[in-house]
Amino acid sequence: MKQAAAKHVTIGIGGGISAYRTLELIRLLKKNEASITVAPTKAALHFVTELSLETLSQNACLSLPLQTNNGQISHIEEAYQSDLIIIAPATCDLIAKMAHGFADEILLQTLLSFQGPVLIAPAMETHMWQHPATQANIETLRNRGVQIIGPDNGDLASGRQGLGRMASVNALFEHILSALTPKDFAGIEALVTAGPTVENLDPVRFLSNHSSGKMGVALARALAQRGALVHLVHGPLSVAIPELSNIKSYPVRSTHDMLEQVLELAANVQLAICCAAVADYRQAKIAQEKIKRSEDTITLSLVKNPDILARLGQTSPKPFLIGFAAETANLEINAKAKCQQKNCDLICANLISKSNPAFATDDNEVLILDQKGPVLHIKSQRKDCVARLILDTVHQRLVF
Ligand code: CTP
Repeated sequence: MKQAAAKHVTIGIGGGISAYRTLELIRLLKKNEASITVAPTKAALHFVTELSLETLSQNACLSLPLQTNNGQISHIEEAYQSDLIIIAPATCDLIAKMAHGFADEILLQTLLSFQGPVLIAPAMETHMWQHPATQANIETLRNRGVQIIGPDNGDLASGRQGLGRMASVNALFEHILSALTPKDFAGIEALVTAGPTVENLDPVRFLSNHSSGKMGVALARALAQRGALVHLVHGPLSVAIPELSNIKSYPVRSTHDMLEQVLELAANVQLAICCAAVADYRQAKIAQEKIKRSEDTITLSLVKNPDILARLGQTSPKPFLIGFAAETANLEINAKAKCQQKNCDLICANLISKSNPAFATDDNEVLILDQKGPVLHIKSQRKDCVARLILDTVHQRLVF
């Protein structure tokens, strides 16, 4: 089941040029099975049409004149049915009206009747954003519990560059999913390692592996959505890190870099998940100059890297520790032994096979074990779903 399934989101649109980007947000939410009502202001309809909004949302827009549906007042019913309201773009005028309780738009009337989470994505020229009146209104809204996303630096309607561009559609999407998720990991600080590590051979070549970082990023994202502060220590990733303010990214390259960063953070976290596909060996001496192609064969002299997970298993106090195990045979025996040897609380074992390559794919099949044996078998599904199921198991065992 998609994360936004069975959720109803009201999307308010103000009259700004970035309204066209909100169409993409509607599409993304629909793909994630949310039901949507769009409430454009009168000014918004100069920038986007009702026809586009209704086609993409597969629902009638909430717009003036006031409507009733079977005797029910539509904006009041919308406020009762909605799980979340997001306003994107939130113009200067709309923000001022929200701050002062105006009700001359159906969107504003709906907002005044709504008791759930409200998110706004301001978009305007830099000086309008920085004006003390706008900043005072933003402060009023923030104190009232409204979540402010952005604005970003970038291209503005005037053709200038600066602060005031509406946050990216992806950031809005991530914040919506996060706001819809119960915060059962609130107060937890977590460390997640993800992606491959990379060991240089010479200035142009390296040793690494096929890891994309998708599983680690999915875990970081799920933890952040559930309220944890996440420190994501990662090698080069093939996926984007979710734009959430409670995910802190620490890019590293070699296994030694990753170990150093992990140990620096370890004392402050209550939960650590080592999902990285760490390079087990490194070149004894990295060549300063490019290794030339003069010989028919060359011999690499590799030395063993430190085991980051095992090192975390020896720390005191030890965080609740989760490892991963990639095995091509004897999954249960090997994974249980790794769990014991590395002093983990849980280990998530992947049987690497043709049907479950696990590396660089969107799906994964996982057997969760503790030091005594199997705990839960998660059948093959999207890594986002696998991450949520892993966290459900962690939640049952982690003492808050
Ligand atoms: N790991 C680590 N540091 C290493 C090697 C592995 O932190 N130098 C962690 C991985 O992040 C993973 C777990 O240890 O959580 C198991 O990794 P895996 O590659 O399955 O096993 P290895 O310990 O490398 O043993 P082997 O390759 O012999 O199976």
